[in-house]
Amino acid sequence: GPSLNDLAVATGRRFGSCVGTGRPGTLTGSFADPAYRDLLVAECGLLVPENELKWGALRPAADVFTFDRAERLLAFAKEKNLAFRGHTLLWHHVKWLPNWLNSHNFGPDPVKGVEKMLTDHVAMVAGSHKDRITSWDVVNEAVDADTGLMRETAFTRHIPAEKVLDITFHKAREVLPKGQLVYNDYMSWEPGHAKHRDGVLRLLEGFRKRGTPVDALGVQSHIMVVDGGPKYEETAWRRFIDEVVGMGYDLLITEFDVNDKGLPADIAARDKGVADYARAYLDMMLSYKQTGDVLVWGMVNKYSWLQGFTPRADKQKQRCCPYDDAFQPTPLREAI
Ligand code: XIL
Repeated sequence: GPSLNDLAVATGRRFGSCVGTGRPGTLTGSFADPAYRDLLVAECGLLVPENELKWGALRPAADVFTFDRAERLLAFAKEKNLAFRGHTLLWHHVKWLPNWLNSHNFGPDPVKGVEKMLTDHVAMVAGSHKDRITSWDVVNEAVDADTGLMRETAFTRHIPAEKVLDITFHKAREVLPKGQLVYNDYMSWEPGHAKHRDGVLRLLEGFRKRGTPVDALGVQSHIMVVDGGPKYEETAWRRFIDEVVGMGYDLLITEFDVNDKGLPADIAARDKGVADYARAYLDMMLSYKQTGDVLVWGMVNKYSWLQGFTPRADKQKQRCCPYDDAFQPTPLREAI
């Protein structure tokens, strides 16, 4: 039958997945598994590196860039004729920036120092791959999920957060005049988290007001299902998306997976709950003509970040991906 990417292409989109090389010093990620690589080739039209282009992976020290893992993934994609997205030029969150940066001395003129570090980074990372990577999550998760305010980082000690993001987007546009520049976030789903979405809307409005070159909102789509139905309010979510497209932004689904922590263990029932919810969510998102490429954050349950990030209380593996650990398609694949 047709691959997920064939089906996506038939609607003018592409389908893809993340792929990872595991923790530094190891080769334990999904990429090390030949069956996973075959599955990527069989189902995907584009790939995104799970961690390999993040600051922490690329920059073990201020003056050192280590591109080898990202290069390995890029070489594979090229060999298999798969497109490649960039993730991410700036994960604007102290937790995900390298430690050395948090105590970095930006020099006698720290405002200039911050600006130079950001623009050098974009020039180096986006610039050296500008022929292969034309769609970038330029900035990831800059809005605090609890308050809706901009997160503080080492950079914001010297330059306001909005300006930090503007500098990064402007440099990305300079490097990629025709590239797709994306602001990527998870915009908490759960009722009671409207502040996060409101914060993202204010940020997107600000980009437009200031002329910051941002083309699309990356909707991560780490959705969660609980017993008795999904854990979000569709009307509130639609209102949010309506406002985003109303400002002229395109949309991408950048990191789709389904957290099933809130469902009982029974596998058949769990798979059905996951698939039903995924179908409802994707129907909603794909009803917007602005929604382009769709990427999952992992193709096979056992390699999903969710197994470590939000393990189930009963120690069963999350059934969060379109393939199970025997590389058999799950009802989630059918839903997609
Ligand atoms: C996750 C990776 O999957 C993990 O391996 C890593 O330890 C942390 O980051 N939102 C994002 C992704 O934008 O970069 C995250 O990826 C998942 C949540």
